[in-house]
Amino acid sequence: MATATEVQQERPKFYVRFVPSVRMEHLILLVTFTGLALTGLPQKYAAERWAQVMIEVLGGIESARVIHRFLATLLMAEAIFHGGMLTYKIFVLGIRASMIPGLRDVRDVLDWIAFNLGLQKKHPTLPRYNFGEKVEYLAVVWGTLIMVLTGFMMWNPIATANFLPGDTIPAARAAHGGEALLAVLSIITWHMYNVHFRRFNKSMFTGKISREAMEEEHGEELAAIERGEKPRELPAQVIAARKRRFWPAAVVITVLLVSGLFFFITFEQTAIQTVPRQQVAIFQPDLVPTEGDPIVGEALWGTLRCSFCHGTEAQGTSDGPAIMGTDVTLEEFFVQVRGGGKDMPAFGRGEIPDGYLVHLYSWLTQNSMGGS
Ligand code: HEC
Repeated sequence: MATATEVQQERPKFYVRFVPSVRMEHLILLVTFTGLALTGLPQKYAAERWAQVMIEVLGGIESARVIHRFLATLLMAEAIFHGGMLTYKIFVLGIRASMIPGLRDVRDVLDWIAFNLGLQKKHPTLPRYNFGEKVEYLAVVWGTLIMVLTGFMMWNPIATANFLPGDTIPAARAAHGGEALLAVLSIITWHMYNVHFRRFNKSMFTGKISREAMEEEHGEELAAIERGEKPRELPAQVIAARKRRFWPAAVVITVLLVSGLFFFITFEQTAIQTVPRQQVAIFQPDLVPTEGDPIVGEALWGTLRCSFCHGTEAQGTSDGPAIMGTDVTLEEFFVQVRGGGKDMPAFGRGEIPDGYLVHLYSWLTQNSMGGS
């Protein structure tokens, strides 16, 4: 008994898990993710009351968009930094890419399910990054990629429409919102449950993890630490030689990526300001409106043969008189068009429905004295 207690006392209660730079990255992710969700979801659900309240709190839709884009830029910059750190670790320090799942993770999942179902007594001993963490990490990478791609399309719709069909933009919008919802829900369920609810694991903030959590979540790593195993380190000259090759490449790639990011966020100014909705001319050929709409009339004018003789603005040409501001009555107008004139053909209902004529007339007479 006594020796067992002694051994227990020798063992540290906490292990270092995350170095400060990693914790910093996590903090940036935490802030940008939360902020992006808070400014993005109200845009997705803009018709809902709660969303409108949130947008008001954020200072209006334009302010919500600006905050959203600022945080997105920060997240993309962090992604570039993360890529740099990762390539440094892999190509210079020679550290294995420990987040790529393998067969062993499949075995761990099966063992873990069997353990939870009571089919197996022993909890699987898990590596430094266990299957759950790998899946979550890859989901963040994949999710960020989708959000950046679809975000680009919405941020730069004109550029996108230059090389992709226009339908891609509403499709990108749907994918962006759907992926966002998926990400938020999975963070609330999977991440919150595993990291905060099941056991409050503060290691991402303090850098240290309790022995108890180590035993359950990273048993294999703990055993290696206890055997006194150190992570494999390359000889100093090898690292120095690799660094000489790494830095020039890293600088070039970083400059390219940062310019890409700059291009991404400055290329178009179309997406922030709300453009007033164009009054849309709705053509309902069979409907004869009691009152014509001059905007519809103007739009129709450009599609009809009338303009060939009367001019694009109905200002008159050598083939027909000016009729903009005409003082003919609506009845005379109908008679002229349906019956034609000396040098003007007649137009039947099949070619120009009655409704069109009412709209045309209201456009032609909108500025005339006494005309209506
Ligand atoms: C082939 C040329 C031509 C086309 C096409 C044409 N017009 Fe005319 N329109 C004329 C000419 C020429 C006159 C002068 C009177 C006449 O010749 O009967 C005229 C006269 C009119 C007048 C009477 C002007 C007035 O002050 O008395 C109206 C109104 C009119 N056009 C409307 C239309 C509309 C609407 C259309 C299209 C549906 C149309 N026109 C198509 C040539 C044309």
